[in-house]
Amino acid sequence: MSEVADTVRLFFALWPGADLQARLAAWAKQAAGRGRAMRRENIHLTLAFLGDTKASLVPDLIALARDIAFPPLCLPLDRIGYWRHNRIIWCGAEQDPPALSELVSALRARLDLGGIAYDHKPFVSHMTLVRNATGLDSAPAWVPLAWELADFALVTSVRIEGRVTYQVLQRFPAAAG
Ligand code: 2AM
Repeated sequence: MSEVADTVRLFFALWPGADLQARLAAWAKQAAGRGRAMRRENIHLTLAFLGDTKASLVPDLIALARDIAFPPLCLPLDRIGYWRHNRIIWCGAEQDPPALSELVSALRARLDLGGIAYDHKPFVSHMTLVRNATGLDSAPAWVPLAWELADFALVTSVRIEGRVTYQVLQRFPAAAG
């Protein structure tokens, strides 16, 4: 069997419910201009990007993530941004709640312990809404939202008929303390 067939493209993410995805996708469509609005079902917030990973490691990843204790938390989506370097329009929090930064640190520490490769770029929480954007000129007013987070997820990215499609492999629930 080839090397490629044994790998999966993986990342850990916060995965919004369908209602929040629909609201964000509707805003993204209006804001897109000549850019490409993210499809509703693809909108998410990446916590740690692993990229191509041996498929045989998936059970280990599920086990290490299950070990992480984190409280349910509320992430304000009170900020819209545009990054020129990668031409994305995104939404996120003016200030991340400490519990979110702690979740990311715990996840990355466990990946380090397990010797699992991931993108070490500093975590900057954001949800990509539009790609290939030229700016915020066409963007409608942003109405701040509050996102109640009850879990995080291990997600795989696959191409189906040329389209990037994300599939949640496993969810890891928060525990009330
Ligand atoms: P982005 O939306 O800012 O591009 C799946 O590709 C997800 O992983 C996206 O949310 C993407 O962020 C994020 N990601 C983080 N690091 C990445 C990397 N090195 N390559 C591709 N995607 C990455």
